[in-house]
Amino acid sequence: MKIFLDTANLESIKKFNDMGLLDGITTNPSLLSKEKGNPKNTMEEITKIIKGDVSLEVVSTEYSGMMEEGKRLREYGDNVVVKVPMTPDGLKACKSLSSEGIPVNVTLIFSPNQALLAAKSGAKYVSPFIGRLDDIGQDGMHLIEDIREIFDNYDFETEILVASIRHPIHVVDAAKIGADVVTLPPVVLEKMMQHPLTKIGLENFLADWEKLKAGNPDIKI
Ligand code: E4P
Repeated sequence: MKIFLDTANLESIKKFNDMGLLDGITTNPSLLSKEKGNPKNTMEEITKIIKGDVSLEVVSTEYSGMMEEGKRLREYGDNVVVKVPMTPDGLKACKSLSSEGIPVNVTLIFSPNQALLAAKSGAKYVSPFIGRLDDIGQDGMHLIEDIREIFDNYDFETEILVASIRHPIHVVDAAKIGADVVTLPPVVLEKMMQHPLTKIGLENFLADWEKLKAGNPDIKI
């Protein structure tokens, strides 16, 4: 399963990329609005730091505007995936951009039928937002199961990019279902590394080493 980071924060992107954890990045206008500086420069910088796919979202809502913005975004880097909303115009733009060799991520997917239509339109990725479904009392992870089954039934190559992830259990469940990608807020990726027994175990090892050193001050690893 690929891991993308769901942020436009350059510091976080560099930090986790240096650990070799990142296969790509997803951004959206809300994430860009949280960062300082010119969003264009931020987006360009991300495409340089990350080798894998970087999803950059259009803000036009009609076809010609999406096409224009999609092509402009693609100039930021060869790894840019154009993110379009799950609307009729978004599907039309998905079809056209994909036919021109520009990969597309169809975002704001909340039902299996929306995912099916996005795959039919040639999307490289569909982004089902599971956390937002959980927020309104629906089972977000069930949507991932449905999409996995449908895509497998018909051998769709479109990848399921699980979005709106809120906690580490979402990641485990998505991996068990066989989702292709999870896109994680930095705080969730941070939590995935942690376990209280790891912390206690390390503290004990270091304390024992100090005891050992007390009797042999010159020893080194
Ligand atoms: C995905 O591409 C979106 O940027 C993101 O996962 C949305 O998550 P949110 O519901 O936490 O805003």
